Amino acid sequence: MIIAMDGPAASGKGTLARAVARHYGLNYLDTGSMYRMVAVGVLRAGGKPDDVQLATHAALTLDPSEYDDADLRTAEAGAAASIVAAFPTVRAAILDAQRDFALAPPGAVLDGRDIGTVVCPDADVKLYVSASSQVRANRRHAELLARGEDISFDQVHADLVKRDAQDANRKASPLKPAEDAHLLDTSDLSIETAFECAIAIIDAALNKKT
Ligand code: DC
Repeated sequence: MIIAMDGPAASGKGTLARAVARHYGLNYLDTGSMYRMVAVGVLRAGGKPDDVQLATHAALTLDPSEYDDADLRTAEAGAAASIVAAFPTVRAAILDAQRDFALAPPGAVLDGRDIGTVVCPDADVKLYVSASSQVRANRRHAELLARGEDISFDQVHADLVKRDAQDANRKASPLKPAEDAHLLDTSDLSIETAFECAIAIIDAALNKKT
């Protein structure tokens, strides 16, 4: 079973995807972390994220042991990830690894921007998780403050809006709901209610298939 969860930054898809994976006993892959790893690789090499050669090299030599590195979660890494993610060569370098992960038993939940449209177009269920930019910026701001970053709400909001526009307007695998995705707006939902809604959508979709 493969479940695709796409959506803009800080929409709650990561928390939901992790909980959904646990619920169904599936593997979980946060594909955004892979782009963040590429970005951090470029920054650590002293480069700029718009350097396509450095970014492609970093994507071809990703070290899975860095998947949980705290540096991936900074605002700088998120902004740089959105830039490297626009390069087709970067996306091509990590596409097979994402597909192999999805196909490995017992199946997986993948979250990202293009899972339902490009990485796993045949996923059993696709969810597109969104929320208003105010709500998303609030969540991301709280997360960054808890990590010790000194950043204002306005800055976080501006960064999110810019990143969403970049992710949605690029040519390579832009952020957009798959035609057959189920939409879930989490703006007014607690994590618990959003989880219950996601499970209800997924169970209904799976029942329909059988
Ligand atoms: O989900 P995130 O905020 O960790 O993602 C960081 C960036 O990576 C995001 O701005 C765009 C890019 N990304 C992507 O292009 N495709 C994906 N499947 C996941 C993330």
